[in-house]
Parts: sequence; C-alpha cells; structure tokens
Amino acid sequence: MQMTDIILKKRNNEELLKEEITYFIDGYVKGIIPDYQVSALLMAIVFNGMSSQEVADLTFAMMNSGDVIDLSSIIGVKVDKHSTGGVGDKTSLVLGPLVASCGAKVAKMSGRGLGHTGGTLDKLESIPGFQVEESRDNFIKQVNEIGIAIVGQSSNLVPADKKLYALRDVTGTVQSVPLIASSIMSKKLATGSDAICLDVKFGSGAFCKNLKEAKTLATAMVKIGHHMKKDTRALLTNMDQPLGNAVGNILEVKEAIETLKGNGPEDLVELCLQAGSVMLMQAKIVNNQKDAIELLKNNLQNGKAFKVFENFVRYQKGDLSYINDVSKFGVAKNVIEVKSSFAGYIAKIDTENIGIVAMNLGAGREKKEDKIDYQAGIIIKKKCGDYVKVGDVLAILHTNHSEYSNEIENIIKSFHINQEKVDPIPIVYDIIY
Ligand code: URA
Repeated sequence: MQMTDIILKKRNNEELLKEEITYFIDGYVKGIIPDYQVSALLMAIVFNGMSSQEVADLTFAMMNSGDVIDLSSIIGVKVDKHSTGGVGDKTSLVLGPLVASCGAKVAKMSGRGLGHTGGTLDKLESIPGFQVEESRDNFIKQVNEIGIAIVGQSSNLVPADKKLYALRDVTGTVQSVPLIASSIMSKKLATGSDAICLDVKFGSGAFCKNLKEAKTLATAMVKIGHHMKKDTRALLTNMDQPLGNAVGNILEVKEAIETLKGNGPEDLVELCLQAGSVMLMQAKIVNNQKDAIELLKNNLQNGKAFKVFENFVRYQKGDLSYINDVSKFGVAKNVIEVKSSFAGYIAKIDTENIGIVAMNLGAGREKKEDKIDYQAGIIIKKKCGDYVKVGDVLAILHTNHSEYSNEIENIIKSFHINQEKVDPIPIVYDIIY
C-alpha cells in the first residue's frame, strides 16, 4: 500500500477502505509516514469529507493506536459524559456525583483547560491535596466502592490524536466535522464506558458557533457511537452566556458545592437534570425522563449527591475541611465590582470574551505551560434577559494581579444591552439519539 495512492483517492473524492485508514494511522503513529503526506490527506478530508463508514473506521483506528481501558471489572453500567468545552462549565463536578448517587457508575478521564475554556482537572486540583493520578486498580476499586472517580487521561491514550491534532493545528485542518468527531470519540471510546452522553455546546463561548454546526457535529459523533455499539446521545446546549454564575476554578468548585446541596443557579441545575436524566436512562436505572428527574431532584435536596461528592474528594485525597467550610479557600487580593453605566435588558453576553478576561485575571492558561491562580475568576451577576439599572453590578472580578483596568473595560464591553424586553435563553435546545 502507498500513502500517495491514499491521498490521491481522497483528493478524487473516493471512499477510503478500512485497511487504507488503518495503514495511514499506524504508519503515522510509528513515524513511517511523514507529516507532509498526512497534511495533504487531512486537507483532502477537509474539502471532500468522509462517509459515515470512513469516520467510524478512522475513529476505530485512532482508538486502537494506544491504551484501550478495560472497565469490565466495574459492576454496573458505566456512563461517561463529555462536554465540547465552555465558560463556567463545572457540570462534571455536579453531574458525576449526582448520577453516581442514583446508582450509575462514572469512571471518567478528564483534561485540563486551555485558552478561554476551563478544564475539570484544574477545578478539582484547586481543592488542596486532590489527586488526579491513580493506579488503574485503585481507579476501578474506587468506582466500585463509591460510584465515581475522575482522573487524568493516561499518557498513552490515543497517541494518534495527539500527533494529528498538533498537525491539524498548524495546517488549517482543525475545522472538519469528520476530523473533530473522530478526535473526540476516539478518546471517549478508548476510556471504556458502556454509554456516552455528549454535551455539544454552541454560541459565543463554544467551539461550535451556532446550533446548526452543533447539530451536525453531534449527529456525526452519535453515529460513530452507534457504529461501535455504544449507547451514545448528545445534548445541544447554549453557551451564549457563561454557565451558572462562577468562572474560575475555586469559584466554580464553590458553585458546584452549592448546586450539590440543592442551591444551584437555574441554568446549571437544568443542564444537570437534563444530562443526568439521559445518563440514568442510559444506565437503565429508570426508563423514562420523568422518573429520572424526580430521582435527581430528590438527591440534590436530600444530601445524597453531596455525600457522594464528599466521598469522592476523600478517596482522591482532597482536604475535606475545605469542602465543609469553603471560607478556607480564601479570596483573591482584589475583588472588584464592575458596575453598569447603562440601563436596559441584557440581550447577549460575549462569552468567549468573558473566558479570555478570566484567563487574563489568572484563572486559565494561554499556553500549556502557564500556571493557574485557582482563586482568580469572575462572578457574573446579570444574565441574558435581566434588566439592569445604571450602577447595578454586572460582574465581580477576583484577581491577585495588581493591574486589571483592561479587564474591567473588557467585561463592560461583553454585556450587550437592548431597550426592549429580552427573553432569557434556554440552556438545552435538543437531544440527539
Ligand atoms: N476537541 C477535540 O478533542 N478534538 C478536536 O478535533 C476538536 C476539539
């Protein structure tokens, strides 16, 4: 087999065979096929796309390029959740313990944040002592005992994606539905759960900028899951405003704790109930959404979800005294109210900009090597549909930096005001099966 023939075939818009896809992935990971040939093939894929069979074959070859985790010794249905990334997205911190408290098994591998979106591991590591590295045996034992573990991805998980993503980043080939869908799904499938619930976000703070793009990507990923005989479902959710009110690691952990105690912000609670009901149906704990929502709401109110969170933190060596007395986290040196200079209804929040401001205050990384300030971030005080008067607080900045005037200005610019009444934005738009 020759790589040149594979490139020409895709350039001519013909369908690649499974053997050809496997040959290119194996050869690239082993360093036999050079970057320039893979770049040419990627660009041909960007222009000519891939059939559902090709995308499934690509995902399968990528998944098998490294470790494939065997979770069969965990008793019960293992359900995983993946978000395409957002601003203020602390859903996994709430949803994991919540569905585990209802009997589902959550054996999750997560990533760190980069750019304007945060990562689950960073949020967890803002709890002093919390460990995200565990031996495979302990990981499995923990899920069997308390229903949940969240750890970092093993270093040999889908090496094909690490190489391909780095190449796509510098060759203008990131934006392609078959390449994005196979990249995400190869990693999810390699982590071994029985069912996958995807949260595909769209809007200004998300990877997909509109509902149509999100639907196309979600449909492609659900199809891959079905090809691999995994129950895969996707929620299409709005990211035209930060999720909940807190953006930044400790601030988000505190909001997650409040939510687990039954006092969460409306949009975060709604997302957790909707995604949680999908996961409980996937785990066959209930067979309809009404029963699922009732069970989830009960466990937020009766303390069971929070109890699982406490166990989860204890098992992963986090200091529980911070969870039981969040004032121990302390606050950043500078806590600044950003006030409105206008009156009207909030029509839109430039969410990507909010994420960038949070990163600039210290809450995120611009480059992989950057250090995070766990205390830094933003509390959003007004959301879409709210009415504001001149002088009302729009947001509160938390930072240990001594200079933050640009950030204040950027926060004010992120709020778009309308004189006519604006309806609040729903969080979940659709669910793809
Ligand atoms: N996230 C991924 O993991 N892969 C992509 O290709 C895009 C977003």
